[in-house]
Amino acid sequence: MRCDKTAAWSQLQQHAESFAGFDLRTAFAGDATRAARLSQSAPHVFADLSKNHTDAATEALLMELARQTGLAAHRDAMFRGEAINHTEDRAVMHWLLRQPEGSLTGDLAQPLALVHGTLEPMLAYAEQVRADAQITDIVNIGIGGSDLGPQMAVLALQDFVLSGKRFHFVSNVDGHELAAVLKGLKAESTLFLIASKTFTTIETMTNARSALGWFQAQGGSDVARHFAALTTNVAAAAEFGIRTTFGFWDWVGGRYSMWSAIGLPVAIAIGAQGFKDLLAGAHAMDQHFQTAPLEENLPVRLGLLDVWYRNFLNYTSRSIAPYHSALRRVPAYLQQLEMESNGKRVDRNGQALSYGTSPVLWGEPGTNGQHAYFQMLHQGTDIVPLEFIAVKKPTHSLKDHHELLLANVIAQAQALMQGKSDAGGHKHFTGNRPSTFLLLDELTPTSLGALIALQEHRVFVSGSVWGINSFDQWGVELGKVLAKDIHARIVSGDASGLDASTAALLQRVRS
Ligand code: F6P
Repeated sequence: MRCDKTAAWSQLQQHAESFAGFDLRTAFAGDATRAARLSQSAPHVFADLSKNHTDAATEALLMELARQTGLAAHRDAMFRGEAINHTEDRAVMHWLLRQPEGSLTGDLAQPLALVHGTLEPMLAYAEQVRADAQITDIVNIGIGGSDLGPQMAVLALQDFVLSGKRFHFVSNVDGHELAAVLKGLKAESTLFLIASKTFTTIETMTNARSALGWFQAQGGSDVARHFAALTTNVAAAAEFGIRTTFGFWDWVGGRYSMWSAIGLPVAIAIGAQGFKDLLAGAHAMDQHFQTAPLEENLPVRLGLLDVWYRNFLNYTSRSIAPYHSALRRVPAYLQQLEMESNGKRVDRNGQALSYGTSPVLWGEPGTNGQHAYFQMLHQGTDIVPLEFIAVKKPTHSLKDHHELLLANVIAQAQALMQGKSDAGGHKHFTGNRPSTFLLLDELTPTSLGALIALQEHRVFVSGSVWGINSFDQWGVELGKVLAKDIHARIVSGDASGLDASTAALLQRVRS
């Protein structure tokens, strides 16, 4: 049943009214079990949800909402390989990419065999590149899901990256990006990975053609050795002239594809075993999501909290604050994951929604954010729930730094909640500002895999409750079509039929 038609939805609306006076400080003072009850461990991730605007009654009603909207059945349909991405008639099986070999029977046994039949040669290739001392620079050319995941993971796992190899990520059609990367490269020591699920994306194809042109102009001739394609469209890659291809399947969404051949730069960076560890961490989270009771299921609790905030407390954004500089691309990665998945205005039947869906996600690493926009989080007029991500153990040995970093992240969560009322006016902090605290023991391939799978599943949960299709992205199509038309007009100068603003801009950029 659609969420807004359920009894739980109306009860949550009523509950939200009585919730207006909720105060975190009072909630803690009145309930000695609050921190423990609203904290939980999931594989490789500890989460403290207790500094959120929620309580036992809210959680109970949200669980009811999950039941009444059929969340568990929808989750199980995904894990059975049903075509839950119905607007594209596709299954949603990124989780299968992390499933151990031979662990499934029935209809999924064959796709799982295909997954491992593809993974092994890809990992063997990654090891071959790692052992090839002549290749010093790996350039990934891809955009969206074919860029953000691998880029985020290579950065996050920098301590595990093989020395002597440099990784570059080129996504933008803006030639300044590719030109700046090419400037420092030599054809004989560069491997280009052309990453595109469809192998038709204009940005990637334009960059790939320019990279090939540059390679040949530099005297490079062995395209098979210096170019590999990561794609579901092997025929298009062959037509482009690339022989070395690693495939995947239409049931892997672009923003869910870092576990597939799209993860090749990660596998080259951290090695075959590291990549397997990444998959294993994600698989552990898959199992947690599949089997833990809803009340103790971390992706479920997070996803339901997202719904509570968006639809009942009207918080329209969420800020991500990773307190680890290697996690600095996590906010950008999560932006695509959440906003491309759940930025939808119609339900699964195409009916317009009367309630909000995806929040706006944004963020920067701490402590940098503290000296930039945290002012607004502490004293602004909007409430923005913050999601801290911290890592217990550092991998460097510099004295004092990590203690200071951890002190800051804990203090920020505390300050947001406690506020400061001994001064008035400009120096007054209202406090009672919500945050979630995610803690990893260490930042490793395994824990990163678990953290990202956790985020994938929480997006599934809110999308499922909202009754939308989280796995298509029709909203990106219009811009692509119009850009084609405007491109032709920039070349020809034809402004006929355009609105006055667009026509004037066209003339201005051409003059
Ligand atoms: O623009 C939307 C999108 O389709 C994303 O969903 C996807 O990750 C990105 O473009 C890149 O697509 P591809 O991997 O097919 O080049």
